[in-house]
Amino acid sequence: MIEKKIGQQYEEWAKSYDEDKIKLFGESGVDYNEFMKSLLSLCELKPNMSILDVGAGTGLTSIAIAKALSCNCRILAVEPIDEMIERARTNVQQEGVEDCIEFKNGIGESLPCNDEEFDLVTCTFAIRHMDVEGALLEFERVLRPSGRIVIADICAPEKWRSLPGKIITPLMQFMISRKYKGEMKSKVLTVNEWKTLIEKLDLRIRSIVEFPGKREPEWEIKRVIMSIQKGIQ
Ligand SMILES: C[S@@+](CC[C@H](N)C(=O)[O-])C[C@H]1O[C@@H](n2cnc3c(N)ncnc32)[C@H](O)[C@@H]1O
Repeated sequence: MIEKKIGQQYEEWAKSYDEDKIKLFGESGVDYNEFMKSLLSLCELKPNMSILDVGAGTGLTSIAIAKALSCNCRILAVEPIDEMIERARTNVQQEGVEDCIEFKNGIGESLPCNDEEFDLVTCTFAIRHMDVEGALLEFERVLRPSGRIVIADICAPEKWRSLPGKIITPLMQFMISRKYKGEMKSKVLTVNEWKTLIEKLDLRIRSIVEFPGKREPEWEIKRVIMSIQKGIQ
């Protein structure tokens, strides 16, 4: 089950989500194409990979991966909101990658998948809506040994946890929650908080790429991509 407010947010957002996502990237000064290039590079894609995309939304990440591999892969896109899946199916058909992408209704904390089924798990801009630790444990369960997890999400700048940050953060959160359609009701961790959480589990961070906002890089929310490996060796 996902939180009712988050569910409603995405039911309503499904139709305009793709256009809004590009617009939000533009407003923060982060180049969407550069970001996607970096995301695909951290995925270390190889032909015939078995890939799980969690919180797949309208399918943008699944489609980018399918195109990068010329559909020479199997992608399972898991998403809890029917309206998002509907838009994703249309997008997938428009892009001609329907042969390698399958959809399932489900949530990150209880994946409808077998143990050690995938080489790669991606989760872009969705894990903040989940019980993060529960979702990471599920990603680990469905990954083959030495498989990879690639997570992209918005992160809070470290300054938000400083003393002056604690005073002005509620105001920043209010402003951002209006811009991101209530997104800030979800958990937005800092990069250091991510590191602490991941190190607690049987997972190892391989690399982190940060895309700070261009106006106030130290204070603005940033986009971050993390590549994580199953197993600590
Ligand atoms: C901001 S969208 C991201 C969609 C897509 N991954 C992308 O990068 O454009 C977040 C998605 O996470 C989904 N979501 C929310 N809670 C979830 C949960 N507990 N498990 C899986 N997906 C969830 C929402 O329905 C929504 O489609």
